[in-house]
Amino acid sequence: MHLQKIITKTIPLLFLYFIIMLTTPHEMKAQENQTALIPLPEKVEWLTGKFLLSNSTSVTAENDKLHEYFVSQVKEFTGLTLAKESNTESKIILTVDSKLDQSNTEAYTLTVSEKQIEITGASEQGLFIGMQTFFQLIPPSVKTLKDRNAVEIPSCNIVDKPKFSWRGLHLDCCRHFMTKDFIKRYIDIMAYYKFNTFHWRLVEDQGWRIEIKKYPKLTEVGAWRKEADGTVYGGYYTQEDIREVAEYAKSRYINIVPEIEMPGHTLASLAAYPQYSCAGGPFEVSNIWGVHKDIYCAGNDSTFYFLQDVLDEVTNLFPGKYIHIGGDEAPKDRWKECPKCQARIKSEGLKDEHELQGYFTKRIANYLASKGKKVIGWDEILQGGLANGMIVQSWQSFQGAIDAAKLGHYTICSPASHTYLNHDPEDFDLRIAYSFVPAPDDLTVEEKKYVIGSEANLWTEDSPQETVDGEIFPRMLALAEVFWNNPHNKDYDEFYSRVQKTYADLTARGIQYGRESKLFTSSTTYDEAKKEFTVNITQGQKDIEIRYTEDGSEPDINSNLYTTPIKVNKSISIKIAASKENNFIGKRYNLSFDFHKALNSKITLKNKYDERYRASGENGLIDGVRATTNHRDGCWQGFEGTDFEGVIDLGTEKEITKVIPRFLLHSNGWIFLPNKVEISLSNDNINYNDTKTIINDVLQKNSEILLKDFPVEFNKLTARYIKVKAESIKKCPAWHPGAGGNAWLFIDEIVVE
Ligand code: ACM
Ligand code: ZN
Repeated sequence: MHLQKIITKTIPLLFLYFIIMLTTPHEMKAQENQTALIPLPEKVEWLTGKFLLSNSTSVTAENDKLHEYFVSQVKEFTGLTLAKESNTESKIILTVDSKLDQSNTEAYTLTVSEKQIEITGASEQGLFIGMQTFFQLIPPSVKTLKDRNAVEIPSCNIVDKPKFSWRGLHLDCCRHFMTKDFIKRYIDIMAYYKFNTFHWRLVEDQGWRIEIKKYPKLTEVGAWRKEADGTVYGGYYTQEDIREVAEYAKSRYINIVPEIEMPGHTLASLAAYPQYSCAGGPFEVSNIWGVHKDIYCAGNDSTFYFLQDVLDEVTNLFPGKYIHIGGDEAPKDRWKECPKCQARIKSEGLKDEHELQGYFTKRIANYLASKGKKVIGWDEILQGGLANGMIVQSWQSFQGAIDAAKLGHYTICSPASHTYLNHDPEDFDLRIAYSFVPAPDDLTVEEKKYVIGSEANLWTEDSPQETVDGEIFPRMLALAEVFWNNPHNKDYDEFYSRVQKTYADLTARGIQYGRESKLFTSSTTYDEAKKEFTVNITQGQKDIEIRYTEDGSEPDINSNLYTTPIKVNKSISIKIAASKENNFIGKRYNLSFDFHKALNSKITLKNKYDERYRASGENGLIDGVRATTNHRDGCWQGFEGTDFEGVIDLGTEKEITKVIPRFLLHSNGWIFLPNKVEISLSNDNINYNDTKTIINDVLQKNSEILLKDFPVEFNKLTARYIKVKAESIKKCPAWHPGAGGNAWLFIDEIVVE
């Protein structure tokens, strides 16, 4: 239908259409193989022939800024300087025609024939988006070298428009600060893949990142945190920086949605202005990730006046329609104890603290609405009730989007399971990203209209600026396509082949992409008769090579290439890494084996481990395979809120000189070292003696992930039974964000020498 409308409008297109019809399938395929477009346009037809882009190609456009942008991008990608005169033999014509599609301003058409390229947008934005498709048609080899006299652009006919109007990419600039230039680059990357919304997280417990003139301490104090090692980390954007970025985004047709989080995740601002908390402080800008209990006081009117002042400056800086006010992860502990908050609950006739958050949200949303802004909040805001017109961003699951749509509120469906790019590609891989459907089928056709789109999100606890490319790529390619038109009958293999071609384009543009999925998995078996482990490695991605070492050195391009299972018959560490085109990618893995005296004997546990953290099961602590610092590596046994006690039965009496249980400290994951470890020996499993105790000497308040051995030495004693007790701290300590919640104890191999 759409194609017909255009054909009747322009004769040259009709002519092109006949050429398409005359093209043999074989030729179409050959053309198609040269280029990878992501997101795939609604209709793309490859024609025979090509357009030669050169310094004598001219460009005409009514809009000067878009003309200038196009010329500068072509220069950037090819090194060519396009001509100004329009009497050249080869021409590029950039036009806007609102009649192209009156229901979708982002629609465009792109036709490439031998002498002419025409990009027509239903609006300037549509034209801009069409230009991005054209830039993708420039071969990666040209983008790398930029020294061609002429660049071949394949002839084609493209008709395209998005299905979702909200195609967002989020960036947390608080946990790690990102420079202004990096943000501009991020905006360019977004534009290239047809995202149209940049969700800029500027407020967190760990840093306030936007200058507010009326409250200078927000950045003087709130933008800087003291790390555990005493160093100071931080940064912020001046209002001038923000204006510059906003102007840049506007020139790329990207809406910026600033997120000024409230009432939780606000410790950095409370460190600067503790009077807006319930308890009054003092506070420090946090240097630990997680959820913190001190939040804005909802009973104090001055909190709202402060936030209104802040929002006045924010709305002046950002010309867009939308402001995100967060609302996620706001613990109610302080509100329950605060006389002012309790008085507010009474005076407003609210049911509980959730409704108090509803009051908070509505009061701020109404203020912003009075300034002509539309307000977005994370799905927790559904619990306390929404203000009219509020948009819900669903992150915990699909449910928030479903509930919001059923209530008649617009929603951005971005469940963590399918859009959080900080999640390890081992759990959330390219295939899962491509399988994402933004408008859930639990909704009726009518309700689905409330799902305006989705967002890919990057939280940066583990991602300083230099690692961001590797986190977002390649999975954002899948989301770009899904957000653009959520293709029906998705063909993952076909998409995957376009991703493979796109890698050269990413490299040419200086983008250091990361992993698609788990690069490989390993499984280990033990042959008791041969006293030998066999390690099998399965590749998760076709185009990589697996290399390994057995001498403790880091694998390099000359190390052993994995082709057959690795046999292990002594205590060694195997280091494994994956390479693609001779560059190592992804995490490196370490598989350590210990041929100790308790290997494959028997162990009886007093308390059962949590099924999620079971290592290799019953005998997981004496299976000879060592755990890594990844608590999910399948080698740890985890115990929640309880002590560990286990008895190893060696089968016969053996001489014992050392017993070395290993524990994990990962306080951000609520995993702590034991207070103490007690080891005793017995010959009958009734009378235990030679008890030795080791007290933990490592500070639990540590943001590093550490492995800690608790070695106990015996003077060549003989025993059949070894009892190992580890006393858990049981509850997270007062300084911890999870204070009072169950603490975990993680134990791995108990080595017996
Ligand atoms: C969130 O991930 N807490 C929105
Ligand atoms: Zn309060």
